[in-house]
Amino acid sequence: MNKKNIFFLSILIVISLLIGGCDKNMPLQVINPKIKSGKEITFFIATDPHHLSKTTYTDGKAFDWFLNSGDGKLLTYTDEIIDAFILDIEVKKPDVLIIPGDLTCNGERESHLEMVEKLNTIEELGVPVYVIPGNHDIDNPWARHYIGDEMIKIESIGPDEFIKLYSPFGYDEAIYRDENSLSYLAAPSEDLWLLMIDTSKYKRNKVRTAPEMGGVIGEDTLEWIKECCQLAREKGAEIIAVMHHSLMNHSEVVYENYTIDNSQDVIDLFLECGIQVTLSGHIHLQDIKSYSDGENIIYDIATSCLVAYPNQYGILEFLPNNGYRYSTDRINMERYVKENNIRDQNLINFKSFTRDFFYRRSYDKYYDSLLEISRFSDEEMKAISSTVADLNLKYFAGFRNANMEGAFDTEGFNILLNTAPCFVRDYVLSMFDDKYTDNNKIFIPLRWE
Ligand SMILES: [Fe+2]
Repeated sequence: MNKKNIFFLSILIVISLLIGGCDKNMPLQVINPKIKSGKEITFFIATDPHHLSKTTYTDGKAFDWFLNSGDGKLLTYTDEIIDAFILDIEVKKPDVLIIPGDLTCNGERESHLEMVEKLNTIEELGVPVYVIPGNHDIDNPWARHYIGDEMIKIESIGPDEFIKLYSPFGYDEAIYRDENSLSYLAAPSEDLWLLMIDTSKYKRNKVRTAPEMGGVIGEDTLEWIKECCQLAREKGAEIIAVMHHSLMNHSEVVYENYTIDNSQDVIDLFLECGIQVTLSGHIHLQDIKSYSDGENIIYDIATSCLVAYPNQYGILEFLPNNGYRYSTDRINMERYVKENNIRDQNLINFKSFTRDFFYRRSYDKYYDSLLEISRFSDEEMKAISSTVADLNLKYFAGFRNANMEGAFDTEGFNILLNTAPCFVRDYVLSMFDDKYTDNNKIFIPLRWE
């Protein structure tokens, strides 16, 4: 080959490398993870932060109704809770932060913009952030301004704007993007890659009156996942999957629209790919479930909602040649209050404030659902509601079985035991007989090939 041909061939190679490097629908040719092989990695997992911009509401009947019909999220304090969490990140310095969706309350543009600012602050601390959307984040028809007595429909953001806004938090670093969803593959470390899967069904949200709550992984995305696994195998990297919806049922009675529609197909594919750990959110419950095909085992670790009691986040430590160690920690609001000289009594007494708020929301929710059954006296409904609210404090925090036996002596529990099956009875009984008595910790040994 003469010099001229060699020159043109080199130009061609550079151009093709550049094209490969710019088009994220093709896997990147050169993968250069920041964390090198053999290093321990600490991931923080904060899910369902549901940030609500304070610019979207004023005091009044409309917002009061909204706040008090929710599920215990402290929507008026998402700013302070997320900022307290950022302080925890500054102190503890994890290697990576993962947020598996529901970044905003109901997809309000103002909330998204503020969330992006908060994530920028985290990256400025040297902690890379990886996000995917949840069912509340895109084209959400529930996005509102609450002004006095009025609820005013406002704009949410579409999928393109989501990618644009959150480009520094995963999409720009992706080594391979799925062209059929907002899923991507990221390689924060040489040993361990993140398969960030968009399971939300927002495509028809614009013509709906409520956001689609359930989740699925489409056929084309399943094919893309196979390619990702092949790529990781070639490079000798392990993969953990991250998705908003549950990979498998976390409750025998509450699973519809929480677990992805094609759960078994995805479990089978993940097992085939050698994936051992999936991290999810959405159900707001701290819970670990697993599935075994007789040979291999896969775990779905659901971390509870950051902005609801007990306001905790997950910590996943990857120990090379050893395994995965998962634990949780609660945000340190005391430190945030002290450092920022905060005078708000709810924040000063945060532990009891968030606990009481969650208890009250559970109590009211179950009292209302018992009213609908119209089987019990008012006294009985009050007794059952207080038992369920007490149990929920432990259940959502990840504690089961022996940790809940105190309920056996309550009047409410005994009324439920002696009544015909109904949702509340089934729900309460489902909290016992769990595989793990404490769903806040687990060690998963690395599989050996
Ligand atoms: Fe969700």
